[in-house]
Amino acid sequence: MADEPDRIPAADLPPGAVRRVGDWAVGNRGGAPFAVSRRCRHQLADLSEGTLDAEGCLVCPWHRSRYDVRTGEMVEGPRGFLGYHGPTPGYSQLVRGYARYLKLRVRRAVRRGDDVVLE
Ligand code: FES
Repeated sequence: MADEPDRIPAADLPPGAVRRVGDWAVGNRGGAPFAVSRRCRHQLADLSEGTLDAEGCLVCPWHRSRYDVRTGEMVEGPRGFLGYHGPTPGYSQLVRGYARYLKLRVRRAVRRGDDVVLE
């Protein structure tokens, strides 16, 4: 969209941070900015409210699905559904299976001057 915000001050994006920029979840993975579409492929939680784990994966705030922010791929399925949060091994595999075909969109994010710009 033409009026979509396409940048964020780099100072607002310290290592490990995830922020919302328009329709994108923008973060800083070990010094490298990234941008992925905001809606979790499970039940549409806002991934800009997620966190980065020790492996640099974006973790959904609702049921902890994990995403590779370089490819948009769900690398681990949800642990729960709706209001339930806990182990659901078979269900997690099922969701991860369909998410293989519904990766997050990935947008190039680069540091430019004092900003991180989405290209
Ligand atoms: S909405 Fe993201 S894991 Fe359920």
